[in-house]
Amino acid sequence: MCGIVGYIGKLGDGGRAQDVIMGGLARLEYRGYDSAGIAVAGSDPERVATAKRAGKLAVLADALADNPIADGPAGIGHTRWATHGPPTDANAHPHLAAGGRIAIIHNGIIENHNALRNELAGQGIDFLSDTDTEVAGHLLGSLVESGLSLPDAMRAATKRLEGAFTLLAVDAHDPHTVVGARRNSPLVVGLGEGENFLGSDVVAFIEHTRTALELGQDEVVVMTADTVTVTDVNGEIVERESYHVDWDSAAAEKGGFDTFMDKEIHDQPAAVADTLRGRLDEQGRLKLDEGIVDDYILKSVDKIIIIACGTAAYAGQVARYAIEHWTRVPVEVELAHEFRYRDPIVSVKTLVVAVSQSGETMDTIMAVRHAQQQGATVIGIVNAQGSTIAREADAVLYTRAGPEIAVASTKAFLAQITAGYLLGIYLAELRGNKFPDEIDALLRELDAIPAKIQHVLDTADPIRDVARSMADERTVLFLGRHVGFPVAMEGALKLKELAYIHAEGFAAGELKHGPIALVEQDQPVFVVVPSPRGRESLHAKVLSNVQEVRARGARTLVIAEEGDTEAADHAAHVFYVPSAPVLMTPLLSVIPLQIFALELAAAKGYDVDQPRNLAKSVTVE
Ligand code: G6P
Repeated sequence: MCGIVGYIGKLGDGGRAQDVIMGGLARLEYRGYDSAGIAVAGSDPERVATAKRAGKLAVLADALADNPIADGPAGIGHTRWATHGPPTDANAHPHLAAGGRIAIIHNGIIENHNALRNELAGQGIDFLSDTDTEVAGHLLGSLVESGLSLPDAMRAATKRLEGAFTLLAVDAHDPHTVVGARRNSPLVVGLGEGENFLGSDVVAFIEHTRTALELGQDEVVVMTADTVTVTDVNGEIVERESYHVDWDSAAAEKGGFDTFMDKEIHDQPAAVADTLRGRLDEQGRLKLDEGIVDDYILKSVDKIIIIACGTAAYAGQVARYAIEHWTRVPVEVELAHEFRYRDPIVSVKTLVVAVSQSGETMDTIMAVRHAQQQGATVIGIVNAQGSTIAREADAVLYTRAGPEIAVASTKAFLAQITAGYLLGIYLAELRGNKFPDEIDALLRELDAIPAKIQHVLDTADPIRDVARSMADERTVLFLGRHVGFPVAMEGALKLKELAYIHAEGFAAGELKHGPIALVEQDQPVFVVVPSPRGRESLHAKVLSNVQEVRARGARTLVIAEEGDTEAADHAAHVFYVPSAPVLMTPLLSVIPLQIFALELAAAKGYDVDQPRNLAKSVTVE
């Protein structure tokens, strides 16, 4: 939620803060796109120059083209996902304080904003917006006006603020400095040559530098063009190691596709292959990326709980089937926001697996902390290097999907399933549930998947054609059984997110317990049909479901394994995916559903990369 960018360069010929910040915001727009704004210090010693507009970043860019603001060496920029107050020009960030001398931007929620607003109003301060951010701005402004430097004021303000926040600020009196602070919201520093950067994540600046540094909880960063100083809120220096960012800047471009989502769907063979690559140590044993969990802990685990939100939770549901089957350890999958408040039974023998593309989903972070407080070991399956969950988990297995920019998750889903499977294989090997040759066979099955995904992508024209013909549908149902069940739910989620069509995913076995009442003449129903080579009864049962809905007038769209002519007999449309072992099939069968949602939304003229009301990274609870 909300993307933030900061830049500090040399004063030179006026500075280039605007270009860098607008470029960074374009890359972060997936985090929120209700409004955008920029503030630059350096041209006027008394006042920071700002521009902000409701609407997408393009509206701000047009406004800047019509009414340019002076450039400078120091700047901050923001793209908003509204929490406090609707997306208007007034509520857009940056907010000014201290008579225009200070500008501030914010990601997160300040929980004690009401009390602070009353206190500041009592000092005669007028508020121009409904936001909690402006409250933080005036708190900072009043501290600066009392004589503190901006860094000292930021440290003092951080002590008084409650909740989750990343704050960046600039001061017209000191255009050689940008200051940031964070608590429970992300902030990454990019280290350049004679310039430095700040961003909600590294894509904000990877076109300029791939050397990054993470900020910890309650830390404040003070940047000049040549220095980066991190302290705690008391001003004590904190040493932070920089790291190299693996992603390259081209990975955050559309690469010839019309949309990021289409590009990311086509990245999926590489996302799975890269997630599998180089996972074996010299002894041929699987290895985690960061952190160490002692083998004796993993051997003694008596329960696994997978926590996640959204698509990542569906990936967890898929992984459950495999991990339970391979390890014989009970696996629960729970939405992170439910887990925390349910008083779950967690002990030192519980392994919690937190699945998150961004590593910044607040509900998942809080669930991780809750699990750790109860003594559980936490392994993160995370895509964003150095993110909060990656840092706080006891160990991390990175999905190597590269930056995922489209709001609706695709390649991260496949990479999360792959990483979940690797973890299952790791545990099965460690605990002796599988012989080495069985482990090898599983790894070979996974290795074969990227080529099969490529085949699905290469033969996707029929699903695209059907999707375009269905732009006027109002409801689409999805049925699946066993691993096909979470695939059905993910297919429905994609359609809701992108095409704003009512869509529901059901367990096929549940059909007769209610959902079948929804079926009327021409109702489209997708059915994920299991392989006929798996448990035969499953295939037969799902085909019965296809017949049951068809008998009631449904238009059946069937995802089936190549050669399954029986499935085709009951389908208005059949979309084939290559044959694969049962547990591997979700990595293939979800792809036609992703393409269906993408194509149908595009046919309706919707912005598939930035669907309405959504944000990619939900950093508030
Ligand atoms: C949001 C996104 C989803 C994503 C979910 C979890 O809802 O729109 O695409 O699946 O958050 O995000 P995470 O970063 O934790 O995987």
